Amino acid sequence: MLPVRIAPSILSADFAKLGEEVRAIDAAGADWIHIDVMDGHFVPNITIGPAVVRALRPHTTKPFDVHLMISPIDAYLDAFAEAGADTITVHPEAGPHIHRTIQHIKGLGKRAGVVLNPATPAKMLDYLIDMVDLVLVMSVNPGFGGQSFIESQLKKISAIRKMIEHSGRAIDLEVDGGVDPAWAKRCIEAGADALVAGTAAFRGGPEHYAANIAALRG
Ligand code: DX5
Ligand code: ZN
Repeated sequence: MLPVRIAPSILSADFAKLGEEVRAIDAAGADWIHIDVMDGHFVPNITIGPAVVRALRPHTTKPFDVHLMISPIDAYLDAFAEAGADTITVHPEAGPHIHRTIQHIKGLGKRAGVVLNPATPAKMLDYLIDMVDLVLVMSVNPGFGGQSFIESQLKKISAIRKMIEHSGRAIDLEVDGGVDPAWAKRCIEAGADALVAGTAAFRGGPEHYAANIAALRG
């Protein structure tokens, strides 16, 4: 089994003290910091932009896993790269030319991820798998934290694990949405090696973060 990376989503942190929250979740053992960027157009919620990413950058040396839920997307890639993103993950539905968008992210020297919504088939990856560093499977419809895990996505995780093995490349397989310790176990069994968790990571406040992350690792 691959070692699982835990990526707490700061969407579930206290927005009034984000810097402090990022330091606390880092100290609690987070591997990556997952940053959900929403525009109120591609998804029905508005969160944070590049200025906040830049402001958080000095608070941790952990990689920033930036999940963009914005459309159009291409005009904002440079801003998130400059703000300190390490991985930039994009939805194929967010722009007309996903291949070009991935090329753009790679050209900025960043890790590129592609994210599949619950109804988006694994087949979407056929002509992208050779250029991405990460595949993110959405196990909820994007837009909000605290939703229930959609079980059908486990099958997609297994299918993508096979595609990754077949590609022969080192590609992270991450899952996002409704991941609690019980679903985490099933995701790992299905082949995931990175897990996003908002509610389950930040539940109970800072004194619980280390135990929350340990529980997700299983
Ligand atoms: C949903 C976001 C997720 C979300 C996860 O659109 O992409 O990252 O914050 O939160 P939980 O773990 O609460 O489902
Ligand atoms: Zn996310």
